[in-house]
Amino acid sequence: MALRHFLTLQDISAAELNAIIERAIALKKSWRSGEIIEPLKNKVLGMIFEKSSTRTRVSFEAGMTQLGGAALFLSPKDTQLGRGEPIEDSARVLSRMVDMIMIRTFEHEKIERFARYSSVPVINALTDSFHPCQLLADIQTYVEHRGSPKGKKVAWIGDGNNMCHSYMNAAALCGFELVIACPEGYDPDAALMQKHKQYVTLVRNPQDAARDADWLVTDVWASMGQEEEQKAREASFAGYQVNHELMSLAKSDAVFMHCLPAHRGEEVSAELLEDNQYSVVWDEAENRLHAQKALMLFLAEELAN
Ligand code: CP
Ligand code: NVA
Repeated sequence: MALRHFLTLQDISAAELNAIIERAIALKKSWRSGEIIEPLKNKVLGMIFEKSSTRTRVSFEAGMTQLGGAALFLSPKDTQLGRGEPIEDSARVLSRMVDMIMIRTFEHEKIERFARYSSVPVINALTDSFHPCQLLADIQTYVEHRGSPKGKKVAWIGDGNNMCHSYMNAAALCGFELVIACPEGYDPDAALMQKHKQYVTLVRNPQDAARDADWLVTDVWASMGQEEEQKAREASFAGYQVNHELMSLAKSDAVFMHCLPAHRGEEVSAELLEDNQYSVVWDEAENRLHAQKALMLFLAEELAN
C-alpha cells in the first residue's frame, strides 16, 4: 500500500506522468464511445474549495461519477473549516470518511499540512503556488495535437504565478525548454528557477520568448486573491498580450493554450482565443475531465498496491 499525494508535478515520475497521459487519452476514447468503466464504484471524493471554480469542480465531480463513485462539494462557508477548525483535525476526520480529497486553497503550505495528516490521497486543485492538474490536461492536449512535448520550445507569457510554476515543473518532467517572459516584479519563484535552470530561462521581452516556439501559453494577469491589484497589473503587463502578432513569431504549427477563465483584450486577444488554427483551449478544458480521471485511478491503484 502506497499513500501518494499529488500536490505538485514533482510528486510523480516522468514514467508515471506518461502512463497517466496515455490512460487519459484511452479514457477519453472509451467515454466518447459510451463505454461504462466504474473502477471507483462506492468511492467518495471530498472536494474542498476555498476559491471559485467552474472547470475544476465540474471535471472532478463528473469524473468521479463516471468512474462509479461520488463527489462531495465542501465549502468553508458551510463547514467547520471556515470557522477555524484546525487543518490537522479536518484532515484526520475527513480522510476517515472519504477515499480521496481534492483541495483548492490559498497558501501551498496549507495543502502540505493537510496531506501530512490525511490517511487518503490528497490532490492539489490549485494553490497560490501551483496548479498541477491543469498541467496534466495541457500535456494531454499537446500530445493529442502535436505528439511528445520533449525537446519542444514552450513560451510562457505573463505572470510568474501558480500556472507558471507548474509549467516549470512540467519542463523538467517532460524535457521541454520553457522560456518565461514576464515584467520585472512578477518573476516566478527564485528557488524553483534555480532548481530547473537546465530547462527554464527568464526574459523580459515577450517576442524573445515567442520566437520559434512550438507552444505559447498565458494566464490572467491578476489571479484569484489579487483582485485589488487588477488595475496596477494591467499597467505592468501592457505589451504582454498574446495575439496574432506575437503568435506570428512562433513556429507555423505552434499551439496556444490558456487554462481559462480568459480575459479577452488583456492577456489574450479575443481573435487569437477564438482562432482554431492555433487555439486549443476548448480541448484543453475538456481534458481536465479525462486527465483527472486517470490521476484518480493512478492514486487509487497506488493505495491498493
Ligand atoms: N482552469 C481552471 O482551473 O478553471 P476553474 O477555476 O474554473 O476551475
Ligand atoms: N492563475 C489563476 C488560475 C485560475 C485557474 C488563478 O490562480 O486565479
